[in-house]
Amino acid sequence: MPHKDTLDHLTRLYAASDDPWDHRTSAYEAAKYAATLREIGPGPFREALEIGCGNGTLAARLAPRCSRLTVMDCIPAAAQSARRALADLPQVRVIQGAAPADLPDLRPDLVLLSEVLYFLTPAEIAALGRWLTDRARGPVIAVNWTGPTDEPLNGAQAVALLAHSLGAPDSTDHGDYRIDRFG
Ligand SMILES: C[S@@+](CC[C@H](N)C(=O)[O-])C[C@H]1O[C@@H](n2cnc3c(N)ncnc32)[C@H](O)[C@@H]1O
Repeated sequence: MPHKDTLDHLTRLYAASDDPWDHRTSAYEAAKYAATLREIGPGPFREALEIGCGNGTLAARLAPRCSRLTVMDCIPAAAQSARRALADLPQVRVIQGAAPADLPDLRPDLVLLSEVLYFLTPAEIAALGRWLTDRARGPVIAVNWTGPTDEPLNGAQAVALLAHSLGAPDSTDHGDYRIDRFG
């Protein structure tokens, strides 16, 4: 499980709002989602996975490119919100659980890690890296805010830790955020 302080922080955020980062309404998020989907490409993906789906705003945009899309979030309120947002998309399955402990039994041909890696501990990123090395059959796309986070890791540090398992990514600097493509 993520560090207790991280879980408490996330639980408090979702208790106050079901859209704590304004994913549904922010022009910044909409532009970042468009850049993320450009990096991902048109697919189609047979079996995609998004780890840390939040309220499902990005997943709803990714879903049309996927035959099956599994999304997961460790905070029950976030998973519930994602279930509501994605209810009309039969190819989408929402799991409540924390990576890497609760990762599903999949061999995904796309893994999306959008604004989630820096919530994990270094040991969790290492375990996630092992899982991805074993299971991933396609690109792993990481999107990370480049400024300071409220967590022990920032985005660059989290990406560097994942690179220990997956090798150096192709990185694109978008100013406030970066997109890293592994594989
Ligand atoms: C900033 S939101 C990003 C949501 C979405 N990926 C996006 O980019 O719009 C990060 C989400 O990751 C979830 N999260 C953090 N650590 C996680 C973990 N170890 N496993 C699953 N979800 C996690 C949080 O609960 C939160 O909803």
